[in-house]
Amino acid sequence: MKAVVLAAGQGTRMRPLSESVPKPMLPVADRPLSAHTVDAAIDAGADEIVLVIGYEAETVRDYFGVEYRGVPVTYAVQEVQAGTADAVNSARDHLEGPFAVLNGDNLYDPDAVDRLFDACPAICAIEVDEPSNYGVLSTDGEMDTRVTGIVEKPDDPPTNLANAGAYAFPAEAREWLEVPASERGEREITDVVAQVIDEHDVTAVTLERWLDVGRPWELLEANEWKVGDLDRRIDGDVSEAATLEGPVVVEAGATVRPGVVIEGPVLIRAGATVGPNAYVRGSTMVGRNAEIGHSVEIKNSVISRGTSVSHLSYVGDSVLGQDVNFGAGTNVANLRHDDADVKFTVKGDRVSTGRRKFGVVAGDEVKTGINSSLSPGLKLGPGAMTRPGETVDRDR
Ligand code: UTP
Repeated sequence: MKAVVLAAGQGTRMRPLSESVPKPMLPVADRPLSAHTVDAAIDAGADEIVLVIGYEAETVRDYFGVEYRGVPVTYAVQEVQAGTADAVNSARDHLEGPFAVLNGDNLYDPDAVDRLFDACPAICAIEVDEPSNYGVLSTDGEMDTRVTGIVEKPDDPPTNLANAGAYAFPAEAREWLEVPASERGEREITDVVAQVIDEHDVTAVTLERWLDVGRPWELLEANEWKVGDLDRRIDGDVSEAATLEGPVVVEAGATVRPGVVIEGPVLIRAGATVGPNAYVRGSTMVGRNAEIGHSVEIKNSVISRGTSVSHLSYVGDSVLGQDVNFGAGTNVANLRHDDADVKFTVKGDRVSTGRRKFGVVAGDEVKTGINSSLSPGLKLGPGAMTRPGETVDRDR
């Protein structure tokens, strides 16, 4: 079966991280977010991957090329990001026979896509506590059974089964992709799913674990999940005077200097240097060519490629974009005095992250002056700077 993977979106809720790197290409453990989706499709037996690209399309194309893990990859360009149904419709000329559609920004159980393909026509579903925030499925009985309807963010949800953004469609669905725009002005795949449900027996394939990566703290969660899945592997240059505990991966070409303590799960990617005397705690991903300096502490964070955190700094529960430079003594606060969940600005609104501990999100090429103090839930846009000794508690 061909698998259409949607990766054209602008990822507006993921700003500032998605301002130069498209959301599907943001790092999750040792590969981009969308590579986890593509891998799941290939593992399930997809014989061709059709990637729908648009926003920052070349970055996606450069990564996957024309063949990925021995499977042909083709591209459909969605010129205007008019919604998920419109995205699949852009790939229409590539489709014949039954086809799968997967969101390029979702993580699934390893075997979920396999079960989805086998059950075609089918849709992945997950039990959630607050179904009103999702597309909700009605079914005619127990789990893994026939889906009878789908409704977006209902006030009165018929079940607690949320649509998990993965579909195996019958061939006919190719003719049903031109749906009208919804109330929020997008052509939504939910309307295609509704027609498939009307005309076919559709199975709900239930998942144990799923993550929709829309906002920066969900990128942190995605890394917690996938870095946590790695087995210990030390291929880099690690000093005998360093201590590595638990599931730690040090890729070939990475350097860990004397006095460093690393408590897994932690991934140190190729070309990165850590220490001397640094303390890196899980779950943390230190990207390619990043530099973690002397006596720096990093906890539960994503440090993207080329980023440098200089001596005597602390970074916790944070996401730093590419080529960021944290000056010496930069301190991130990741906990509020009132112990309330940390808030973050998404598309202009302050929203709860649902996390008691959350630090900062720094876009690409942010620079902090020495001894900067950064407040919980702070957003620093690409290229933003702070002055030496500055206390920053407002986004910039
Ligand atoms: P989302 O609904 O999360 O949209 O898309 P988005 O653009 O990524 O993020 P926001 O809402 O602006 O923050 C789900 C998946 O569908 C793709 C996205 O790339 C993502 O993988 N998509 C979305 C498209 O390919 N085209 C679109 O027009 C919309």
